[in-house]
Amino acid sequence: MNIEREAHEILKQNRQMTSNHQYTLPSLKNYPYQWLWDSCFHAIVLSILEPEAAKEEMRSLVSKQFDDGMIPHMIYWQSGDLHRYEWGKDGTSALTQPPMVAYAVEQIYKRSQDKEFLAEFYPALWKFYKYLVEKRDPRSHHLAGIINPDESGEDNSPRFDAVLGVDENVSLNDHLKKRLVLIEENIKCNFDAENCMKNHFWVKDVPFNSILIANLESLARLARELEMKDDEEFCTAHIGLMRGAMRKFMYEDGVFWSTYGNDYKKVKVATWAHFAPLFAGLYSPSEASLVVEKHLLDKETFLAPFGIRTVSKKEPSYRETAESFSWRGPVWFAPHWFIYKGLLRYGFEKEARMILDMSASLLERGGFREYYNPETGEGLGAEGFTWGTLVVDMMRA
Ligand code: GLC
Repeated sequence: MNIEREAHEILKQNRQMTSNHQYTLPSLKNYPYQWLWDSCFHAIVLSILEPEAAKEEMRSLVSKQFDDGMIPHMIYWQSGDLHRYEWGKDGTSALTQPPMVAYAVEQIYKRSQDKEFLAEFYPALWKFYKYLVEKRDPRSHHLAGIINPDESGEDNSPRFDAVLGVDENVSLNDHLKKRLVLIEENIKCNFDAENCMKNHFWVKDVPFNSILIANLESLARLARELEMKDDEEFCTAHIGLMRGAMRKFMYEDGVFWSTYGNDYKKVKVATWAHFAPLFAGLYSPSEASLVVEKHLLDKETFLAPFGIRTVSKKEPSYRETAESFSWRGPVWFAPHWFIYKGLLRYGFEKEARMILDMSASLLERGGFREYYNPETGEGLGAEGFTWGTLVVDMMRA
């Protein structure tokens, strides 16, 4: 299989045009809108394969930025009946998603050296990250809160079971009902994270905050390129504060745990969230070695024959096949990509190579699917799904 050629084909097949915008659907059949972190993944890969298309993808994503700086997680450019419900306004959702925007713009800039593009994009980036570090942190504790599981990008992860009040056997339907009740609260609160939503669902998620820190690093480097000294300092200061807060509120037993509520109760469910901080360099080198040895390479928990389980096999909520439990065990390419980058950041070349090889062989066996059974490698969920294209970026690293 020529992964690069097939990845480019999928990205072209899933490409959509409106009169003014171009973007990519995660899957033609199953996902009829534009999604935030999906578009960032597309742009990262397109920055290698087709740089102009990468720029267009990001332009359409930020075209619906809110006045307060938030970038919505879904844009309903066309009609479709999936997940639209009533959580939108003005043709978008009113939630956000893991903030990969600065990282994606940095990749485009690094690979194209197009400074005009960077200057065009910079104000939108600045507004978005200011919103996240200020409005999503009303008590100035230096962690960003999410107001709905969907903002984590892992809608039915067991990390949110305790907060939603469901147990490990919750059905897909009951889970969705809970999230819709939350959307009702979101609407009553006018999606106001700072003043209202924090009373309903207020999670400080490990991957979201790790991704935010890594993206503030990208933003700091981009600010330096543009000689915006104050902005660069703002980012550097916030990175330091957030690193300290994650350690203070989330670190225990050698790993980071998501927390909820005003008193930072730790959610003691073992998921791939333990590995997300590698992406932002949050573990010391010796802590990172232990995380890799004790968790990533442990066959009883995370290391499956066909990839890294998103939830430890020892958790009662672990499910390997049921499509309705997608974020409760199956392998996804985005976590693989974050883990791969994180391992390289620490110099774990051999382990990174293992993730790349497992990812490539999933594509060979199961094609470009939404997620995979970790024990058999069987492709599950949507077909023609774009996240497998991230392997192209992994092969270039
Ligand atoms: C699913 C995933 C989410 C993704 C979306 C579109 O809802 O959980 O992370 O952004 O599909 O691919």
